[in-house]
Amino acid sequence: MPTKHILLGISGGIAAYKSCELVRLLRKQGHTVSVAMSRAAAGFGSPQTFQALSGHTVWTDDTADSADGMAHIRLSREADVFLIAPASANTLAKIAHGMADNLLSTLAAARACPLAVAPAMNVEMWRNPANLRNIAQLQADGITVFGPASGSQACGETGEGRMLEAAELAELLPDLWTPKLLAGKRVLLTAGATFEAIDPVRGITNLSSGRMGVALAQASRAAGAEVVLVAGQLQVAPPTGIAVHHAHSAREMHEAVMREVDNCDVFISVAAVADYHVANRSAEKLKKDGNGTPPVIELAENPDILAAVARLPNAPFCVGFAAESHNVLEHARAKRLRKGVPLIVANHAVSAMGSGNNQLTLISDSAETALPEMGKRDTADAIVAEIARLLEKAT
Ligand code: C5P
Repeated sequence: MPTKHILLGISGGIAAYKSCELVRLLRKQGHTVSVAMSRAAAGFGSPQTFQALSGHTVWTDDTADSADGMAHIRLSREADVFLIAPASANTLAKIAHGMADNLLSTLAAARACPLAVAPAMNVEMWRNPANLRNIAQLQADGITVFGPASGSQACGETGEGRMLEAAELAELLPDLWTPKLLAGKRVLLTAGATFEAIDPVRGITNLSSGRMGVALAQASRAAGAEVVLVAGQLQVAPPTGIAVHHAHSAREMHEAVMREVDNCDVFISVAAVADYHVANRSAEKLKKDGNGTPPVIELAENPDILAAVARLPNAPFCVGFAAESHNVLEHARAKRLRKGVPLIVANHAVSAMGSGNNQLTLISDSAETALPEMGKRDTADAIVAEIARLLEKAT
């Protein structure tokens, strides 16, 4: 993932405490961060805190122009993106009206890079018609608005207006500079492990963490697609800003996919789907019989979701995964043909499952491309680029 220089503006709001974590997460992704604070923000988090976390001088109304007189211009010239988080109702109103009476609003007015804002305010302030007018104006002006989320607020009230969490903002920000290779496309994905119940407390599942599927959902969203995720069991947080439908068993996943597949341009089947379910599932918890005789578990085959989607009359562009333990490429090639899909992603099952990294080979009818070993998000970006290339070729 490319690394950028981010100018982080902080306006007055208790959500400023989340911005400390945000600076840490952005730096962990490899970005550099400069912080500019409004006077009100300094009441919620000290410039010293942000200086220590960012490793850079923090700019305030008092210090910005004493340095060289041009910080309000220069800072956005040095940045690839300007994010204001938290963005108060007051700061948003000023930016929407082109006012420039403090450091943050002047930086926004004079910016030469994309601007994103993460509103944070009381629920009544959020739904105040003047604020909603300002938000609509900001969006019409090409400013990205992240959130807000809904929930309990520091003031004791409940509703919309909470700033997104630091991890959500760190996840969404790179979307701003990601090429929109799937703009206007609708992408449906499955991810994670299915669970086939044996009795009310036991079941058959597998080691898939859902990381690769979540990374592909994020990469598709970042590439401008409308994304729908059907998720089995995930050991990672579901992606931000994406519709997620939860499915427990393979048959539930099959139903959810068939409900959502209409009007999809792409279907990416990443889930580790159980091949069989338990035909004699017990309604009561199975007990040992005391004689050492184990219970008999009868298995029946599950629907092959990917093959079923690929057979639909108006099938979307289908992408399958082949996680194999041996003869990886040979099995993957055969699987691509058997399932009737244009692209299959081959990997080594044991080393990939649960790991943060992946080494994959993309197999289509015209090419076999071995990707270098990379993090799952970088791998996902490469898969999305290949899907976009093949879609373009097909039209
Ligand atoms: O047949 P196998 O499980 O090896 O195929 C793997 C690919 O097929 C994956 O893309 C997986 O998501 C999909 N699959 C499916 N439904 C099944 C089994 C696998 O969609 N019942």
